[in-house]
Amino acid sequence: MPEADTQGEKDFHLDVPASTAGFFLKGSGSYDWGMQNRLARIFRPETGRTVMLAFDHGYFQGPTTGLERVDVSIAPLGPYADALMLTRGMLRTSIPSSHQGGVVMRASGGPSILKDLSNERIAIDIDDAVRMNVHALAVQVFVGGEYETQSVENMTRLVSAGYRYGMPVLGVTAVGKELTRDARYLGLATRMCAELGAQIVKTYYVDEGFERVTAGCPVPIVMAGGKKLPELDALTMAYRAVSEGAAGVDMGRNIFQSEAPAAMIQAVAAVVHGGSSPAEAHELYRELVEGRALAQTS
Ligand code: 5RP
Repeated sequence: MPEADTQGEKDFHLDVPASTAGFFLKGSGSYDWGMQNRLARIFRPETGRTVMLAFDHGYFQGPTTGLERVDVSIAPLGPYADALMLTRGMLRTSIPSSHQGGVVMRASGGPSILKDLSNERIAIDIDDAVRMNVHALAVQVFVGGEYETQSVENMTRLVSAGYRYGMPVLGVTAVGKELTRDARYLGLATRMCAELGAQIVKTYYVDEGFERVTAGCPVPIVMAGGKKLPELDALTMAYRAVSEGAAGVDMGRNIFQSEAPAAMIQAVAAVVHGGSSPAEAHELYRELVEGRALAQTS
């Protein structure tokens, strides 16, 4: 038997109402504690935003330029990212298990670039994701693609599995060569992902109407990077996306194919979390490259 608790006066803070604080992320207030906690490992509670580093490209296109040796080129970027988006093969082989940030795991796959990419299946058992302490599962959704329904079903099955474990699902709106990348299409694809249960949606930035895409999606949208652009252009795109309602970015090639990936991811974070303008963030990038500024980790 423990000893009786007779020490001093108890303080129930009778003058302080019990906390009924909501959750900081759009659309996420009704989730269970575990799912909210996982989301808070991906999105920073202070800003409600994330800088996610995507390097899952090898799952359909092999050793992509910049990803030839993930252990050498990507693992050192881990401390600068809020979350890593990767495959389970790369997590287990190339990322130290001491990694402290979020982990978003690619959970669909199948076809290579030699085939129709929309013919994906679920590529992971949720038990394995839980075993790896993953914080969200990412699944590609090919709205308008040949295997549209199959890819949507991949997502809905993962969403249902995710609710059993408090595991959020990131729906990735794929844009095939034959699909128009405009606000009307992205509004359709992102809204479908959210309506069918995705807790986060990833999509591309478009110059016209992106704010309508984010406004029409009831869960956080993160901006995909796309093909490599000059650094200032990529920072400008990230700036516009967050200014127009994105809850951060999930960028790959524009970071790991930059001449200075560590400097670039810090410049992106300055835009996403620090409110820097593209010009200010680009100046930070130059300073870091030239060794005139100190590196910042989260
Ligand atoms: C598409 C993905 C990739 O992770 C992502 O698009 C790659 O990032 P980037 O386009 O910025 O290089 O989800 O399958």
